[in-house]
Amino acid sequence: MKKSLGLLAGVALIALSGQAFADQETKIGKKIYDRAFGRGCGACHDISSNPQLKELIKAGELDKAKFAQVIKEGKNGMPKAIDAIMAVGPVKKAGYTEDQAIDAVYKYLSE
Ligand code: HEC
Repeated sequence: MKKSLGLLAGVALIALSGQAFADQETKIGKKIYDRAFGRGCGACHDISSNPQLKELIKAGELDKAKFAQVIKEGKNGMPKAIDAIMAVGPVKKAGYTEDQAIDAVYKYLSE
């Protein structure tokens, strides 16, 4: 009995920390969106004539591979963004790699 309770508590703890990790990732993704380039991605992307990232992702028209490629290389009026993303305070503080930072902002935009 005691042993199974301990196991249950362990499972609950793992589930909780998994949740906290996911929340942390989304939070950092939002910070990237709001702060990269000083004014954030929204300075351009919240203007209706520019690509609407959340809608594109939800519609299945912007997968993570394409997203990552545009971030790393830029595309026409879209500046190369990886350096600006890596310079965001919470990204540095979390010690994220480039791929982790891209995952975080993609995850934020997917929600
Ligand atoms: C200076 C304005 C500007 C800023 C800042 C900006 N973008 Fe963009 N972005 C654009 C424009 C314009 C396009 C469309 C480029 C094209 O397809 O010709 C674009 C395209 C994209 C695309 C490709 C969409 C597609 O379907 O091809 C992604 C992904 C993207 N931006 C992500 C971001 C993220 C994430 C940030 C913040 C880190 C950001 N952008 C900041 C202007 C900007």
